[in-house]
Amino acid sequence: METKPEIHYGLEGVYIAESGISKVDGTLGRLYYRGYSIDTLAQNSSFEEVCYLLLYGKLPTEDQLNDLDKKLKKERAISEDTKGLIEGFADKLSPLDLLRTAVSAAAEDDSKPYSDNEAENVEKAIRIIAKMPTVSAAIWRLRNKKDPIEPDSNLGHSENFLYMLSGEKPNAEKAKFMDVMFIIHAEHSSNASTFATLVACSTLADIYSAVTAGVSTLKGPLHGGADEAAIKMMRDIGDPKNTESYINEALAGKKRIMGFGHRVYKTYDPRARILKAYLERAKDSADEDVRKLIEISLIAEKLMIERLGESHGIWPNVDFFAGPLYLWAGVQTEVFDIIFASSRSLGWCTHIIEYWRNNKLFRPLEVYTGELDLEYVPIERRS
Ligand SMILES: CC(C)(COP(=O)(O)OP(=O)(O)OC[C@H]1O[C@@H](n2cnc3c(N)ncnc32)[C@H](O)[C@@H]1OP(=O)(O)O)[C@@H](O)C(=O)NCCC(=O)NCCS
Repeated sequence: METKPEIHYGLEGVYIAESGISKVDGTLGRLYYRGYSIDTLAQNSSFEEVCYLLLYGKLPTEDQLNDLDKKLKKERAISEDTKGLIEGFADKLSPLDLLRTAVSAAAEDDSKPYSDNEAENVEKAIRIIAKMPTVSAAIWRLRNKKDPIEPDSNLGHSENFLYMLSGEKPNAEKAKFMDVMFIIHAEHSSNASTFATLVACSTLADIYSAVTAGVSTLKGPLHGGADEAAIKMMRDIGDPKNTESYINEALAGKKRIMGFGHRVYKTYDPRARILKAYLERAKDSADEDVRKLIEISLIAEKLMIERLGESHGIWPNVDFFAGPLYLWAGVQTEVFDIIFASSRSLGWCTHIIEYWRNNKLFRPLEVYTGELDLEYVPIERRS
């Protein structure tokens, strides 16, 4: 009898490649981009600088950063066709569906979407990364019957995104917060959506197709939708004093609390720690509604750690505190997952480009559990 091979459901514990992009240390709760800790980058860097670091492998000089900044600004605008595409489906599709559709269309004015030249692919990556926030802001505005706002080249990448959403230039505190969000969401090793981009690019599909696969994979609540699900839970709780009974009941009913747990981090997610510090600061300037959500999140965090932290390795992840902070910054719930996609487009593109250096078609195996050599019965004789 054949021995059954060991199956790694969800590819848990399986290494798929060597990578010099990021290191997720799930035991110590650390994250590094190209060797720099996420705390250092969130504190000192900008999304543009992190973009250079990830795409080119090292921190830029001032001239290099200025060049990249110019390129990103030049590529921000989106075509009238893309706006028309979004407008046409705005009432019928969710924001993430619209983003996925618009990203597939981003190859519209690229006469050679597939290239085997790394420098050309870096330029394509810059186009994609630059356009994603513009598309995302247009999606939100068109779904809310407002005209899209043109990008402002006096503003940085993330600050401009907030501006294109509301038409108001954010204050320095909110602009810095949004930049930190873009930085901490930019890259996270071989997570589900990044892996999806690699599967697509391993067929030598073009970078636009591969990024579209990434956007699709963010849709579910186990990956990109967890921050929205966490906010929904906080709203269901309603009042901070209901938090304990809600959590107890949910856990007794074996429900998952969104924004907790991670395949790799078996300790506090370092990105959640960064956000917790922001949350504590945001509390004072938040309106009544958001302040309540912040309080609920802080109580829930404490209870969950007591119940499942050390004992089960289930700790807050980046998505738990993101929701109340987005609301504090004026970003509505339906924009959460498309912001995630906009920032993660940087990590996706970086991984695609790296993977192509040593491309190998993904083709895993399955253990067949069905029957063999069955007799074919003509349809009229089947009961
Ligand atoms: C992210 C996630 C899918 C990773 O989990 P995983 O490594 O695949 O582990 P599993 O889904 O097999 O869960 C292992 C156990 O922990 C429990 N668990 C995991 N996350 C939990 C959560 N958020 N709340 C309550 N219990 C949880 C599971 O119920 C399971 O318990 P069991 O062994 O008694 O059945 C999971 O933690 C989850 O669903 N979290 C909520 C969604 C989320 O926040 N996603 C964003 C990730 S950045």
